[in-house]
Amino acid sequence: MQFGRTTLSKFVIEHTRGQHSEMGALLIDVAAAVKTISAMVGKGALSGFSGLAEAINVQGEEQKKIDVMANEAILRHCEWGGQLAGMASEELDVPYAIPEGYPRGRYLLVFDPLDGSSNSDVNVSVGSIFSILMRPEAGDAETADYLQPGTEQIAAGYAIYGPATMFVLTVGSGTHGFTLDRESGNFILTHPDIRVPEDTREFAINTSNERFWEPPVQRYVAECKAGKTGVRGADFNMRWIASMVAEVHRILMRGGIFMYPKDNKDPAKPGRLRLLYEANPMAMLVEQAGGAASTGRVRILDVAPDALHQRVPVILGSKNEVERVERYHHEHDAGTDRPFVSPLFSDRSLFRETA
Ligand code: AHG
Ligand code: MN
Ligand code: MN
Repeated sequence: MQFGRTTLSKFVIEHTRGQHSEMGALLIDVAAAVKTISAMVGKGALSGFSGLAEAINVQGEEQKKIDVMANEAILRHCEWGGQLAGMASEELDVPYAIPEGYPRGRYLLVFDPLDGSSNSDVNVSVGSIFSILMRPEAGDAETADYLQPGTEQIAAGYAIYGPATMFVLTVGSGTHGFTLDRESGNFILTHPDIRVPEDTREFAINTSNERFWEPPVQRYVAECKAGKTGVRGADFNMRWIASMVAEVHRILMRGGIFMYPKDNKDPAKPGRLRLLYEANPMAMLVEQAGGAASTGRVRILDVAPDALHQRVPVILGSKNEVERVERYHHEHDAGTDRPFVSPLFSDRSLFRETA
């Protein structure tokens, strides 16, 4: 049925010839892991993996059984091939060393095995996110090897386990989507060269955190909510799935802006999402599709990491809206954002002590 169509294997072999041919084999192993996870997730309550694993990960979050299984699936599928110097995962405190007996390579695989796992027991789309970096030579990686800015990523991608399972990939030349044909087991190129529209009227943010946001984000969202009656002069729509993969996928398909901004809910956490295996791969995919990805103040891909599980504010999607939110941050930092007055919540609020 799919004769003549481009499979993921064909695509990666063609797009990694030369300098990164070994990475092609690694990507095919990542895709094999994703198919295993897709099959597990797709069984839902019949899989036997619903519920908590009764363990807390390094993020201080409760691990679900499915988080642990997805993590194992990626480690087992990718450790043996000789392309990797090591792996790092949301679910592992320290990087994973390639076991004795397997050859070592130069690549580093960094991943979130199951994103949005709080949604896994309610049958809502979840996903896996990965990023590929490199160290100068083959061998055993140390933590410092992973602490590279997102601009150094050689490839990035995610799988979304929704009504259809899709694999969305960039190797630095556009962002491309593949759909799993469950009958043949092949990922088929169905969305070549995805483009994110520059403008949008759709935003995604967890508004239950509104009182913790910084004034520029409060200003932006207030203006969206004011719709036609406000300064934007247009009605906006809101979506929030609480699976970053599903939000980013929607944005790649039809535009939009996704925000998990800096907030003061927990001063120890400058944002919710993790830089190395959530923000950076998604930022590369979105930029490669013509969108933008920012912390609100700087480009995400330029942030120099100083820890494996570092968190970062994330504002990504349609270019013109991301740039607007960045401008609001700069205006706020420069003290020139006077037109917006949030009497209750901004730091120029009624409750703010005057100097
Ligand atoms: P994870 O399941 O890997 O911990 O990540 C979930 C993330 C992300 O998918 C989503 O945007 C965000 O957490 C939702 O968090 P809250 O519901 O706490 O706002
Ligand atoms: Mn996640
Ligand atoms: Mn996760």
